[in-house]
Amino acid sequence: MAFGVSLPGLAAAALIFALAASSYLYTTRRGKFIVWAGLLDGLALRGDERLLDVGCGRGAVLMLAAKRLPRGQAVGIDLWSSKDQSGNHQEATLRNAKLEGIGERVEVHTADMRKLPFPDRSFEVITSSLAVHNIASARGREAALAEILRVLKPGGTALIADIGRTAAYQRYLSRLPGTTVERRRLGWRFWAGGPQMPTTLVTVRRARTLD
Ligand SMILES: C[S@@+](CC[C@H](N)C(=O)[O-])C[C@H]1O[C@@H](n2cnc3c(N)ncnc32)[C@H](O)[C@@H]1O
Repeated sequence: MAFGVSLPGLAAAALIFALAASSYLYTTRRGKFIVWAGLLDGLALRGDERLLDVGCGRGAVLMLAAKRLPRGQAVGIDLWSSKDQSGNHQEATLRNAKLEGIGERVEVHTADMRKLPFPDRSFEVITSSLAVHNIASARGREAALAEILRVLKPGGTALIADIGRTAAYQRYLSRLPGTTVERRRLGWRFWAGGPQMPTTLVTVRRARTLD
């Protein structure tokens, strides 16, 4: 034993680290794509909707959505922070869309999710993946959620997948008029580094008629 650390202790720490790293790599390279494909399929889209992806980054969800919208449009907004996602550029996202043969159905804007550059009730579907938690303050996160609801059409659905704080998202969104909000875990495929970092989905449905 050196410096009070035993060999079995070191081996256990190395194993935990390796498992967390493998889980993170699996989620970012494959798991989240499988989960989001299932979530989008579960919406039974007609194919002509206008969908907004908030904090789209390089376009993981945006591309999956555009492929399901042959007569619609997938719109992404982001601030392109390289701290939150490597190689994060508007041009990279548009290039990915062209390479996938869906360039005409994808539109991206530089915008802060706390102040979305769209009129009220613009989108039938809104998605957001691992993005809202990047805003440091609770007030800022609530501003982003309020904006998501503002630009969602009556009868529309928003799917917000995130790590941590999703109970607070649910509480805040449930207080806004005309919303039905559900929350559930997305399973091991979407662990952001092991079971201690699960991703949770907050689903918000906006009533068709707003009083
Ligand atoms: C972890 S990445 C996730 C990207 C993508 N949604 C995905 O699942 O691959 C988080 C993204 O949120 C963006 N972001 C962070 N704060 C933002 C803000 N205030 N407004 C818009 N985008 C923001 C970052 O630039 C980054 O692209």
